[in-house]
Amino acid sequence: MTPSRRCFLSIGVAMGAFAFFPSLAPSLAQDAAIPARPFVAEPIVHPIPPTTRPMRIGVIGSGNIGGTLGELWARAGHQVMFSDRDPALAQDQARRVAGSRAGTAAEAIAYGEVLFVAVPFGAWPAVAREHGAALKGKVVLDPSNLNVARDGAAAEAALKKAGNTGDAVAAWLPGVRLVRAFNTAGYGEFAKQAARPGAKMAIPLASNDAAALAIAVRLVSDIGFDPMPVPGGLAASAKFETRGPGAGVKTVAELRAVMGL
Ligand SMILES: NC(=O)c1ccc[n+]([C@@H]2O[C@H](COP(=O)([O-])OP(=O)(O)OC[C@H]3O[C@@H](n4cnc5c(N)ncnc54)[C@H](OP(=O)(O)O)[C@@H]3O)[C@@H](O)[C@H]2O)c1
Repeated sequence: MTPSRRCFLSIGVAMGAFAFFPSLAPSLAQDAAIPARPFVAEPIVHPIPPTTRPMRIGVIGSGNIGGTLGELWARAGHQVMFSDRDPALAQDQARRVAGSRAGTAAEAIAYGEVLFVAVPFGAWPAVAREHGAALKGKVVLDPSNLNVARDGAAAEAALKKAGNTGDAVAAWLPGVRLVRAFNTAGYGEFAKQAARPGAKMAIPLASNDAAALAIAVRLVSDIGFDPMPVPGGLAASAKFETRGPGAGVKTVAELRAVMGL
């Protein structure tokens, strides 16, 4: 089996090679417009208490944020299936994360009571084309943030038109029970802050679907964060966009203060 390029990259060998021999890179990137990032496992610092209500969670996009959140949920006792456009990466995550498994995106969608779709913001139209029908009616947690350099001008225009990330993604995925979640900090912070002692790190959430939001609340608290649903439906995701005042490692009280709630 071909080892995942991400694990290869994570030991820091190939990055130098690609920097010096860029002609090697196209064979690794399946979509030149959305270049891949190396996966680097960040250590999870605090023990995650076992959940009393395990759920099946399908991960689509098993890179840095998908791999980290999948690992946190698996440590809590949830049943996690990793998938990725690069099947070797999903298989590597399944080998790395005890109790998890790997599958195709279609298998992860069929498996998951909840999906964590951790792809670049600019990849949503492709996800919608390939999996939009299967995702209809599914609860989907969405951590995506626009990165213009990575996602391109069309993605930037879609976000501008919608006015916030939640409504932009929802426009691509009609019928999906979307919840904005885990977009406000880097994956290394989620690994470090999960289940920390004392006041927990708050995770702001936004959704138009109350039942989906309730599931997200449970999954956030299961891995040792304080869920903070922000009133106002998906449009409320505007209050915690990346690099905005709602981003970063904050408690619920701190988030309420910056959001004026
Ligand atoms: N990294 C963070 O700390 C962080 C924190 C909060 C939010 N986010 C957001 O989370 C999203 C993912 O970020 P990341 O840092 O985890 O990126 P990443 O490490 O590059 O992982 C993204 C994964 O999505 C896969 N992918 C791309 N297009 C796909 C498609 N159409 N179908 C299935 N899989 C696809 C990529 O596969 P390929 O290898 O084939 O490209 C890649 O493995 C981004 O929107 C980012 O803004 C990231």
